[in-house]
Amino acid sequence: MPVTEQDVLQALRAVRDPDLHRDIVSLGFVKDLEVCGGAVAFKIELTTPACPVKDLLKRQAEEAVLALPGVTGVEVQMTARVVGRETNLDNPIPGVAHCIAIASGKGGVGKSTVSVNLAIALAQSGARVGLLDADVYGPSIPLMMGCANEHPEARNQEIVPIERHGVKMMSIGFLMEEGQAVLWRGPMVAGTVRQLLADVDWGELDYLLVDLPPGTGDAPMTLAQTVPLTGVVIVTTPQHVAANIAAKSVQLFRRLNAPLIGVLENMAGFVCPNCGTVTQIFSGLSGEELSLRYDLPYLGAIPLDPAVSASSDDGTPSLVRFPDSPQAKAFRDIAGRLAQQASISTHVSPAGVSFERS
Ligand SMILES: Nc1ncnc2c1ncn2[C@@H]1O[C@H](COP(=O)(O)OP(=O)(O)O)[C@@H](O)[C@H]1O
Ligand SMILES: [Mg+2]
Repeated sequence: MPVTEQDVLQALRAVRDPDLHRDIVSLGFVKDLEVCGGAVAFKIELTTPACPVKDLLKRQAEEAVLALPGVTGVEVQMTARVVGRETNLDNPIPGVAHCIAIASGKGGVGKSTVSVNLAIALAQSGARVGLLDADVYGPSIPLMMGCANEHPEARNQEIVPIERHGVKMMSIGFLMEEGQAVLWRGPMVAGTVRQLLADVDWGELDYLLVDLPPGTGDAPMTLAQTVPLTGVVIVTTPQHVAANIAAKSVQLFRRLNAPLIGVLENMAGFVCPNCGTVTQIFSGLSGEELSLRYDLPYLGAIPLDPAVSASSDDGTPSLVRFPDSPQAKAFRDIAGRLAQQASISTHVSPAGVSFERS
């Protein structure tokens, strides 16, 4: 009996997406199925190229098909189509599938460091990524991305983002004079954030990360009112003060009706570069405890490492400079979990906007 397409699809129903809790056939992930004699070829189209279980799903699909009698070979190609959330807002960035804000209760917890490295990790997975520095009080992304001296140009009345490490980037820092001190009033913050969204040529992106100023002031409020937010990620450190303030921001973001999609802990244990021993510097509430308390997904922890700081300061983020380090691995794992949460949030309220990619 020759193998049929139906046999292959039936076998693939045994492969389930662990996050979406359904099999890859009923999710519509199997594409371009071809059966030629005993040779089977198809694509599996995931909801993100940064999917942490990509290799596992590929292996399971290959094994399921190879187990069919008559199959002599199988070729599985993994692709992704990032699908955004449907919106009835008058969306100024319709080409962006997921807008994700990076927030914290207090400053100095590593929000910008995290934003930069997560953006690069997502881009390295094959996603189209933008990074918006909306920290009006302390824009630091240009310095961390090594482009503090660049001046973005305008084209067709839109500002063209600067591209670094595969990430399209725009910062409030570019729009201010160097060394200029600005007394920010609420409406100015709101206007600037809107401008950075609407007047910048973001094009088509799978993810736009937004580095917010600390707290729950005008910037997050404007962001939440201007674009359909996939979610807010809260960055915390295991210090008492940081965790208490982070807990307050969780409550405030909930009041803003901004969906929270994860907590991540920065400056977790200090890893000794000589012996590898992990020393806990702070003893406050951990990111994991915070996520449990507020029933939020826990995305992971990034160790405290002088190399992270040094590489941010000289404009080459640690993911680029030390790609094999433990903190680079932590950033990649967290980026995968973030992409996963974004996919889950869209599949809970199935969406209209979608972007083909090859
Ligand atoms: N995991 C880390 N290990 C060591 N230093 C870090 C780490 N994360 C951030 N830093 C450093 O801490 C300082 C504050 O980080 P930053 O990203 O600017 O915080 P925020 O944006 O929240 O104000 C910076 O000097 C940065 O290099
Ligand atoms: Mg910052």
